[in-house]
Amino acid sequence: MSLLYVPEGTPTKQALDSSEQAKSIFALEHGKIVYLPEESLSLHTEEAFLFSPQIKAGKAKNISYSPHAGKIKHTALTGVELNSLTLLLQRYADYASSLIANLFPLYVPHLTRGRTSFRPIEIAGRIPASYKKDDTRVHVDAFPASPTQGQRILRVFCNINPDKRPRVWEVGESFEQVATQFLPKVASYSSFQAQMLKIFKLTHSYRTAYDHYMLGLHDAMKKDVGYQTSVKKKQFDFPAGSTWIVYTDQVSHAALKGQHLLEQTFYLPPQIMLHAAQTPLYVLEKLLGRHLLVS
Ligand SMILES: [Fe+2]
Repeated sequence: MSLLYVPEGTPTKQALDSSEQAKSIFALEHGKIVYLPEESLSLHTEEAFLFSPQIKAGKAKNISYSPHAGKIKHTALTGVELNSLTLLLQRYADYASSLIANLFPLYVPHLTRGRTSFRPIEIAGRIPASYKKDDTRVHVDAFPASPTQGQRILRVFCNINPDKRPRVWEVGESFEQVATQFLPKVASYSSFQAQMLKIFKLTHSYRTAYDHYMLGLHDAMKKDVGYQTSVKKKQFDFPAGSTWIVYTDQVSHAALKGQHLLEQTFYLPPQIMLHAAQTPLYVLEKLLGRHLLVS
């Protein structure tokens, strides 16, 4: 069974017909990658500064733009170039939003736009600060400082590599297979600890039991070297000039190679999923036998 779904139509230009929308949402919510091999953000000639190694500042691997603060972080650019980068990231956020609207219009009223990022660093050969930050190991997304409180993490990626190099991913087992293996290795949730994390500002918001178990899966998967080498994985090379959309909290993935990627994060409430039994929240609650969004 293919892990990619290529919708029929041109979602960069117009809404897909309703049967194609239904097929796309079915594929996405069942843990497939919705893949648009011919769709990409068009860059302007004056945006070639993007590919200069001088663009990034500090140790962060990504340059990110927050739509709420209207600010870019981790870039060395100033003046006119900073302004151009801001406009480019805003344009990418609009491109990603219109793709979602044309593919999955049911999501639109519930969509929260998160950060837009540009990833200018080559992944291969990069030395991560710890195994937890090593995205070449298969994992599901969960972030220690940023609880989603049950919200889904939907991401739109676009490979804009100017040398036509692919973005190389591996995709592992289903979420249920991952959760079944790794939940027993995750320590029990403590609401007291979650309150302390929030009081001491180690988390941006309250870490629910759901966030705790998601983070536990993320960390346990990456830590288990035996699992990383033995788990069945399938490699995908996403060529330059392609776009793909995926629930990264559900799909077990690793990024092995590639440079120059745009990414837009969206958040969605799990209650509006059409195929709710596939959500990480449903699967974890089923396996643990309790609700995870109450403290
Ligand atoms: Fe990830």
